Amino acid sequence: MAALLPVAKWPPRKTRVREGLNTPMDVSKTLCRLDAIADGNALAVDVESSTGGFSLILLRQGERVFAYHNECPHAGRRLDWSPGKFLIDAGFVICAAHGASFFVESGRCYAGPCVGSGLVPIKVAVTDGEVRLSSDAV
Ligand code: FES
Repeated sequence: MAALLPVAKWPPRKTRVREGLNTPMDVSKTLCRLDAIADGNALAVDVESSTGGFSLILLRQGERVFAYHNECPHAGRRLDWSPGKFLIDAGFVICAAHGASFFVESGRCYAGPCVGSGLVPIKVAVTDGEVRLSSDAV
């Protein structure tokens, strides 16, 4: 009788670690005007950094704006289905690639292939009608 051998899981599960925003950048830069984002909708903006820059998703709810890296924790794809076009429904943003759904206010994934993980938040502030990186974003 053949001995049972442990079965290795293949491919090995990848653990994605995102370290948040730790790249130097110009924190005084205005990302956009608040009124450029329709209430309940989102906008993508590109942010320059010393490491080449990245895309952010800015989600507006009334006078509040929530910002996250535009990168899904499931497979690292952008969340938008076309540049700057997002699937948003009743306070949730849905990744266009495989349907992971995230709470707008926390970025936490509540359904889909990466439940329990979340989007990487970036602190922003709305000042004088402008959405700006918060001074403690870096
Ligand atoms: S890359 Fe977003 S759900 Fe797969």
